[in-house]
Amino acid sequence: MIGMKDETGTPKPVYILAIETSCDETSAAVVKEGYEVLSNIISSQIETHRAFGGVVPEVASRKHVEVITLIVEEALARAGVTPDMLDAVAVTQGPGLVGALLVGVVAAKALALAWNKPLIGTHHIAGHIYAGRLVQELKYPCLALVASGGHTELVSLEAEGRFRIIGRTRDDAVGEAYDKVARALGFPYPGGPHVDKLAHEAAEAAVLPRVWLEPDSYDFSLSGLKSAVLNLVNQSRMKGLKPDVAAIARGFQESVVEVLVEKAVRAVRATEARQLLLCGGVAANRGLREALAARCESEGIELIIPPAVYCTDNAAMIGAAAYVKWRSDGGTPLDMVADPGFSLEDWSVKGY
Ligand code: KG4
Ligand code: ZN
Repeated sequence: MIGMKDETGTPKPVYILAIETSCDETSAAVVKEGYEVLSNIISSQIETHRAFGGVVPEVASRKHVEVITLIVEEALARAGVTPDMLDAVAVTQGPGLVGALLVGVVAAKALALAWNKPLIGTHHIAGHIYAGRLVQELKYPCLALVASGGHTELVSLEAEGRFRIIGRTRDDAVGEAYDKVARALGFPYPGGPHVDKLAHEAAEAAVLPRVWLEPDSYDFSLSGLKSAVLNLVNQSRMKGLKPDVAAIARGFQESVVEVLVEKAVRAVRATEARQLLLCGGVAANRGLREALAARCESEGIELIIPPAVYCTDNAAMIGAAAYVKWRSDGGTPLDMVADPGFSLEDWSVKGY
């Protein structure tokens, strides 16, 4: 393990500058000791992409280029940290949009080189998971339910920084399904929050299927549910009726939440996890938070749900994950490349 000491030999706190540009948020943060967020600056491109109904990769890269320098300067200034105080520069290496990742990776390499600091290529999903560490100490083994726009996974952590994916989506990610359903119901991108709100206002729920897959499987499938929603909408329109969007939103949300909660709790039992971590953008979903909290309470499972700002893409979570990796394995070679298909399991720490 790497322990930092000052010139008198006393241990000094570790400061990491983290950068995240994997999708449509440009973010930089300074994180102390892997959990204390000194700054977390996030510039969202949502307004730009809304006009296109989703993230346009080329536009995302250009927007990252425009603001990255300012965001990094702002993160250091807000934290009151100067480059010489930093121990490392972390950056999301993947997965994500390749052009978007490249902007962060190039910026981080340039800064690491100029300041003579180690570089830490960091896994985006490890970041989402370690967002939990920003609010609470983690106890191992623990289990993470990752639900974001691009990922839906159940990840078992047997020890710090060791990831094993035990379930994943076979088609659409949860956030992606939310966004597609929202679009069919007439809402702008990103539609998840609209569907969530409508589901809570609905008096009744449309009847929609639950997709469990094989009895022992922790995988998910959402494309069938999404098609069932689209069928309901189209059937109403063909009959000249207005679809009951509120009932459809509630039916969709209930189906998604029931399956996610059930599989997550089953996985907690099977892996003897001491904590369940809910993470990713969809962790902001009220229906999911409430159902998971109620179920964990009745089952005696400790649940960690970070505040919304640490659930959607942000650099503080990257700083938290990078700290774990760096303490164990040290830095990443400067010739590392942005990797859109980066494997979480391969990124696991090698050992202390
Ligand atoms: O984690 P995230 O910020 O980006 C990715 O790494 O993908 O997640 C964004 C996703 C979007 O699909 C958005 O619609 C969804 O999270 N989302 C929600 C809610 N808030 C954000 N989905 C359902 N209910 C919400 N309240
Ligand atoms: Zn994400």
